[in-house]
Amino acid sequence: MKNFIFLFFCLFIVNSAATALECTQIPPSEIYDSNTVNITKKDGSLQSLPGNFNCVYNISTPIPASHSLYAIVTVTNGLKGVNDYILVTKITGSERKIVSAGNKVETYKVIPGSQLSVQVITKSGVMKSQFAISVQYHSAVIGPSVQMKTGSEMNFLDVKTINQGPFTSLTYIVLTLATEIYEVDDFFYDNGSKFTTISHHLTVVSFQESLIQVLNPITEVQPFINFLSVPMVKTETPFDTGFNEAIQLVNFDSAGIVMDRFQIVTKPCNAKVVAGPPNNSSKTILDLSTNPSKAQSFNVKDLTVISNGCFFLLTAVASN
Ligand SMILES: *[C@@H]1O[C@H](CO)[C@@H](O)[C@H](O)[C@H]1NC(C)=O
Ligand SMILES: *[C@@H]1O[C@H](CO)[C@@H](O)[C@H](O)[C@H]1NC(C)=O
Ligand SMILES: *[C@@H]1O[C@H](CO)[C@@H](O)[C@H](O)[C@H]1NC(C)=O
Ligand SMILES: *[C@@H]1O[C@H](CO)[C@@H](O)[C@H](O)[C@H]1NC(C)=O
Ligand SMILES: *[C@@H]1O[C@H](CO)[C@@H](O)[C@H](O)[C@H]1NC(C)=O
Repeated sequence: MKNFIFLFFCLFIVNSAATALECTQIPPSEIYDSNTVNITKKDGSLQSLPGNFNCVYNISTPIPASHSLYAIVTVTNGLKGVNDYILVTKITGSERKIVSAGNKVETYKVIPGSQLSVQVITKSGVMKSQFAISVQYHSAVIGPSVQMKTGSEMNFLDVKTINQGPFTSLTYIVLTLATEIYEVDDFFYDNGSKFTTISHHLTVVSFQESLIQVLNPITEVQPFINFLSVPMVKTETPFDTGFNEAIQLVNFDSAGIVMDRFQIVTKPCNAKVVAGPPNNSSKTILDLSTNPSKAQSFNVKDLTVISNGCFFLLTAVASN
């Protein structure tokens, strides 16, 4: 009888340990700037898993206000069993399955007001699979809402100098220069290269200091077969134009763009350079039918080269 009680007691301990491991979510009191929450072990070491373990850890960030939080989630894969896996449901809803042979460490981002979940599943406890999740919360500044400019003003965003958004426009917005697109699901892809929003607004979320985006209303982009934006640097960049193409050149750091080495391939050439984006209210600053032979300097931050069925070459450089 004594033995029986002892055995019962042991089972109870094992059971309660398994229950404690299961699905302990991050308490709201732990969700604050600069805090790191380690799941399940506080010191961040790997947690050994029993068999038939199945738990979903939801990691969410508060709804954005003027200040909010984002999270960096690191999943450490110590899986050993072939039937064991970790299923990460990212903020966009897309899933990533991590198995024993996969990456040992994976990192995900949780933008303000979103959720990522990590489901950990084991079949047998014999394989001694392990895992750890580390969640770092950081403050996020939410910029004011910005109405996109129309007419001859180009819309661009450089998070080095400004933190703004969401952008709203009277029409769909096309990202004609995007240095990094992270996890987008509110765009449609028009023939590969360009990102066009499916609504009239766009929120830019940046995790890096040097993110540059150029945004155009779709009305500016649609008249062209090809449309691209290029940041100007201090070294000369060569360009050759396509049949019906617009190339927006932007000097993010200053004002001043110098164009040189014009070589008109097809004559007559009906091409031009306008200040700002290719809007019908933009001013023509260079008519390429004049076949310019020397460097042309423009004291503007941004301009657009429009080919109109003319093939030509040129170089451009940021003069400041
Ligand atoms: C959480 O885990 C990380 C390693 O992933 C460790 O550096 C950190 O000290 C841990 N946090 C605490 C409170 O122990
Ligand atoms: C985790 O999130 C999902 C989806 O929002 C929800 O259905 C589920 O109840 C959550 N689980 C916990 C433990 O909060
Ligand atoms: C050009 O700008 C004007 C004035 O902002 C606007 O009404 C017009 O729709 C724009 N045209 C194009 C092609 O985007
Ligand atoms: C690309 O554009 C062409 C011409 O508009 C269209 O016929 C084709 O279906 C498009 N392809 C994709 C993948 O959207
Ligand atoms: C500019 O383009 C817009 C839309 O494409 C058009 O409605 C408007 O009449 C044009 N304005 C001029 C001055 O051509």
